[in-house]
Amino acid sequence: MDLAKKIREIQDFPKEGINFKDITTLLKDPQAFKYMIDQLSQQLEGLNVDIVVGPESRGFLAGAPVAYKIGAGFVPVRKPGKLPAETIRHEYQLEYGTDALEIHRDAIQPGQKVAILDDLLATGGTVLATAKLIEELGGEVVSMNFLIELAFLKGRDLLTNYNIKALVTYD
Ligand code: PRP
Ligand code: MG
Repeated sequence: MDLAKKIREIQDFPKEGINFKDITTLLKDPQAFKYMIDQLSQQLEGLNVDIVVGPESRGFLAGAPVAYKIGAGFVPVRKPGKLPAETIRHEYQLEYGTDALEIHRDAIQPGQKVAILDDLLATGGTVLATAKLIEELGGEVVSMNFLIELAFLKGRDLLTNYNIKALVTYD
């Protein structure tokens, strides 16, 4: 199946010059959604993943079904102030200003093998911050898997030490 054909492109959203990749058209298509989850899950075969981490919010859409499919646990990484128990935080640079992500301190045990799942790799800031949180807890990031990679933004350059895979690449 050609998943790229299921992704809708919206010009100038959320601001001028951005060609937004809208995955809602893929997710509402039962065959395409199943194919996406099956393919992402297949990429993790043999890696003995204990935990799938998904960054809020679109990372939940890919991460939780993949965790279920491969028999791993699911852990959310969230925007500040959303997680109720004790958290650790990682701040990262945006084009203008900073943003932050949090994870529960007890979400990952030292030595656990972790895969990060998200819908999109753009600059790599989100997934790198997520990896830092996992590593601070002693987890090992064995894979980063995306539905979409915007290769022209060169997110991979930030992520040289990681195993990165995407199902659809825009050059
Ligand atoms: C989008 C997307 C990725 C991230 C990729 O999330 O879902 O998580 O941006 O960009 P980056 O590689 O430059 O960090 P967004 O922050 O828009 O939030 P959402 O998932 O809640 O929609
Ligand atoms: Mg996101």
